Parts: sequence; C-alpha cells; structure tokens
Amino acid sequence: MMQKCQKKRGQFPLISVVLFVLIIFSILCIEINIHKIHQIQPQPAHTDQRQSSFDQEFLLRPSALLNQTLSKTPPPVPLNKSSTCSSTVKYSGRRVFSTVRTPEHAGRRDQPEGFDLFSGKWVFDNTSHPLYNESDCPFMSDQLACHKHGRPDNDYQYWRWQPHNCNLKRWNVTEMWEKLRGKRLMFVGDSLNRGQWMSMICLLQSAVPANKQSITPQAQLTIFRAEEYNATIEFLWAPVLVESNSDDPVDHRLPERILRPDSILRHASQWKHADILVFNTYLWWRQGPVKLLWSDEVSGVCEEIDGLGGMELAMEAWADWMASNFDFLNKQAFFVTMSPTHHFKEEWEPGSEGNCYNERQPITSESYLGSGIHLPTMQVVDKVLTRLSSKVVVLNITLLSDYRKDGHPSIYRKFWETLSPETLSKPASYSDCIHWCLPGVSDVWNELLFQFL
Ligand SMILES: *[C@@H]1O[C@H](CO)[C@@H](O)[C@H](O)[C@H]1NC(C)=O
Ligand SMILES: *[C@@H]1O[C@H](CO)[C@@H](O)[C@H](O)[C@H]1NC(C)=O
Ligand SMILES: *[C@@H]1O[C@H](CO)[C@@H](O)[C@H](O)[C@H]1NC(C)=O
Ligand SMILES: *[C@@H]1O[C@H](CO)[C@@H](O)[C@H](O)[C@H]1NC(C)=O
Ligand SMILES: *[C@@H]1O[C@H](CO)[C@@H](O)[C@H](O)[C@H]1NC(C)=O
Ligand SMILES: *[C@@H]1O[C@H](CO)[C@@H](O)[C@H](O)[C@H]1NC(C)=O
Ligand SMILES: *[C@@H]1O[C@H](CO)[C@@H](O)[C@H](O)[C@H]1NC(C)=O
Repeated sequence: MMQKCQKKRGQFPLISVVLFVLIIFSILCIEINIHKIHQIQPQPAHTDQRQSSFDQEFLLRPSALLNQTLSKTPPPVPLNKSSTCSSTVKYSGRRVFSTVRTPEHAGRRDQPEGFDLFSGKWVFDNTSHPLYNESDCPFMSDQLACHKHGRPDNDYQYWRWQPHNCNLKRWNVTEMWEKLRGKRLMFVGDSLNRGQWMSMICLLQSAVPANKQSITPQAQLTIFRAEEYNATIEFLWAPVLVESNSDDPVDHRLPERILRPDSILRHASQWKHADILVFNTYLWWRQGPVKLLWSDEVSGVCEEIDGLGGMELAMEAWADWMASNFDFLNKQAFFVTMSPTHHFKEEWEPGSEGNCYNERQPITSESYLGSGIHLPTMQVVDKVLTRLSSKVVVLNITLLSDYRKDGHPSIYRKFWETLSPETLSKPASYSDCIHWCLPGVSDVWNELLFQFL
C-alpha cells in the first residue's frame, strides 16, 4: 500500500543541526504577527452550541484514566501564555494511555491497491497550473503572497504532481464544492496547516459569489462560509494538538513551551463537530525540549522531555481521542505528514552556501532526502497512525514537498518586524524556507486531499 522509504540520508555536522534548530526557532518566533491574516472582513462571531463546556466534556469522556484523575482532583487550571512551572524535573516516563482503542465496526479507508499517489515527480505544466491567480484570492495571507512581495519569477506556480503509477483526478472546483455541501471541513494544526487551509479557500472561493461568502475570524478558530453550499472551511490553531501555553494563535512567543499531554479536550471540543478533519503537527516539536504539566499535578511541577518524546505523547492522546470518539463511518480524518524545510543549500548543491533563497527549480533526483525531514519524527507518526489501523488517511506530502526547494517565500513575504540594512544585505539570513508560496505546493496537497473525498 504505502511505499517504503529506501532512501538514505546524508550525515550533517552537528553545527548544521544546531543552526537548523536556531533558524526554525527564529522563524517560528516571527509567527507572532501572522494574525494579520485574520484582519479581513470581520464578521460578528457566531457562538453556537459548538463551544461546549470543558467540564461537561471532561465528565462525558469514557476514559477510565481521566475519570480517575477527575475524581481525585478538581479540573486543572487551563494553560495560557502566563502559565509557569513551579519547578522542573526530568521526565518520569509516565504515559498518557497504555493502549489505543479502536472501535471494531469502524470503516477503513485505504488508498486503492497498487496506487501510491505520493511517489512520483514534478512536471512543469503552465497550462494546468496554477489553479488560481494570487491576486484573485481576497483572503490571501501576506505571509504567502510571494508575487505581491516582489518574487521575480512565477515558476514555482507551474508545477503539477505526477504520480508514477497513476494519474491524479483533475481538480474540479464544482465537484469539490458538491463533496463539501452541508459539511464542515476543518484544518487543525500549525502555520503549515493554516497555509493549506488558505490554499483551500483560494482554490474554492472563485466558484461562489463574493456576497455569499464570508470569513469569521475568532481567536483560535477561523471560519470561511459559503452560503450556497451551506459549507464551511475552518482553521483551528492547535500547534501541538494537546492543550498548551501556545494556544493563542497570535501571541505565543514564549521562552518555554508547556503542555498538558493528557488534555486534548480544549481543542477536541471545537473540532468534534467537523465532518472532514485535516490534522498536522511537526515543527513545533523541533525546537528543543518541552515541559509537561500533567492534569493532576496541583503544585505546578513540570517534567522536561525532548521534543520528539513530547510529540509522541501528544499524538497518543490525539489517537486515543480519535479511536474512542471519532465516527469513522460517517466522517473522514486525514493526517498531513511533516512539511520539509530547505535551510541548507549544500544538501542539494554540495559545496555551496545559502538556503532556499533564489531557488527556482525543484530537485529532480528522486533519491533526494534533505535534513528538513526528521526521520525519527516520521517513525513516531508511522507508529501512532498504525495503531489507529490506518483509519486516519495519511496525506504523505513529505517527500514530494522535499523536492520543492523553490516553493518557499524566502524573502518574498511580509516580515512584521523591521529588518536592519545589515540583515537586508544578507537575504539568506532572514529567508523563510519553511512556509510555501501560494499558489504553489500547498495547492497540490489539497489536490491530493481531493482524491480521497
Ligand atoms: C510517508 O512516506 C515515507 C516515504 O515513502 C514513508 O517512509 C513513511 O512511512 C510514510 N508515512 C506514513 C505515515 O505513511
Ligand atoms: C467514572 O467514575 C464514576 C464515579 O466516580 C463511575 O461511576 C464510572 O463508572 C467511571 N467511568 C469509567 C469509564 O470508568
Ligand atoms: C492565565 O491563567 C491564569 C491562571 O493560571 C489567570 O489568572 C490569568 O488571568 C490568565 N491570563 C489570561 C490572559 O487569560
Ligand atoms: C509556458 O511555458 C512555455 C515554455 O517556457 C512558454 O513558451 C509559454 O509561453 C508558457 N505559456 C504560458 C501560458 O505561460
Ligand atoms: C490568471 O490571470 C490571467 C490574466 O489575468 C488569466 O489569463 C488566467 O486565465 C488566470 N488564471 C486563472 C487560473 O484564473
Ligand atoms: C466538474 O464537476 C462537475 C460536477 O461534478 C461536472 O458537471 C463537470 O463536468 C466537471 N468538469 C470537468 C471539467 O470535469
Ligand atoms: C447546513 O448544514 C448543517 C450541517 O453542517 C445542517 O445541520 C443544516 O441543516 C444545513 N442547513 C441547510 C439549510 O441545509
């Protein structure tokens, strides 16, 4: 079914790794200001039954472990950006759940036998792509509008993904809307997933009249509505899936990351009403250790764990929620695998310096595997998703996106802080090699999603 990765990755000196982590950290910090995208067409927020009470949720939950926790201690104080640890100890080895339960009647949705949509190559095709024009999308984020911000070439818009053993069904905006009729499609995750959400809106909005569409920015949840189809396309900011001190979509530039590995309900109570869910989580776990504050910890003692270990706990909590609460028969869930970064040009052009800045062509070598792909993370994702018996469909965009060193904004996006002349004179030093220009790579992720709906 899924193709195994036989590709070997190169060795990179420790200094590269340290540099990589620093760059990621600095770019994620820049995120603080991307809330500007929410400042479009504000509408009164609809507060319907969706915001159900946390406590009620908690009591209804069939998990014996949480039930136990609850009966002994009052519900924990919700984490926010002012939360702190009274002290920090080493991770104790505590797990969230011992097993992931899977309902037996649940439907299984694999890709058709013999078709691996995710192994293939990029084909230059300026007749079929881009699927929309940057300037025609009124909701476009200044973080992703590369042409508007001075990118001299449009080449990154013209690539089509061609799987080796099959053809993708052609993107059809009418057909997509029909699939979404009467439904809520929700993206849940970090800024990469927000990029995919924005791509989806840009792909779809042209087919509905401007006066029959609206966007409702809320703190955490942003909702695009299309009246004609009674459908919504939503984005929920939940960068580590579980509850954390970074759940403010705007202000999360924090010296330490604190999360509650056993608390998924802050976010699940919002996403549980969606019909189609698209999850991701990755880069937030690549910034060094995180702190765990368990729900039954009353004196504020945190446990410190490395990012990967934290990710595994968070994904287990998520998988447990999915296995015990998600209606796989009538709904669909997707997990988008890690989105690779391109911080080291020497990886695709040995002996050179720099990063994705000025790159205009995809990588053509199919055996390419950059250090922006963290293999241990891939293994954790594989493990957790396997325990869900493949019922969550994997959008395995990692390798195909790894070829697209040309697809990042680099310096062609809005930067919220003022850049000094010295910084400006070294474009590579502030290039964004994490996110993706639109139209571009994220549109193709959505074309892949379209194949499974
Ligand atoms: C994604 O694809 C890679 C490369 O083919 C593979 O190693 C990995 O196991 C896949 N991940 C999942 C979750 O299927
Ligand atoms: C949760 O606790 C209540 C009372 O403390 C008990 O009646 C109930 O059976 C427990 N539920 C589970 C799933 O363990
Ligand atoms: C954050 O939580 C603390 C309790 O831990 C509370 O006193 C404070 O008002 C909260 N701050 C915000 C901005 O919500
Ligand atoms: C497509 O690309 C070809 C080759 O670069 C070029 O000759 C042609 O003018 C392009 N067509 C469009 C519509 O951009
Ligand atoms: C983009 O705009 C150009 C010229 O304004 C037009 O020819 C082209 O068809 C548009 N493409 C799409 C996908 O709407
Ligand atoms: C797109 O889908 C609609 C509705 O399913 C169909 O009527 C139309 O023919 C399709 N268009 C193309 C170009 O395939
Ligand atoms: C719109 O969709 C919702 C489900 O998302 C459904 O409950 C409602 O009845 C629909 N309304 C109409 C007018 O079809």
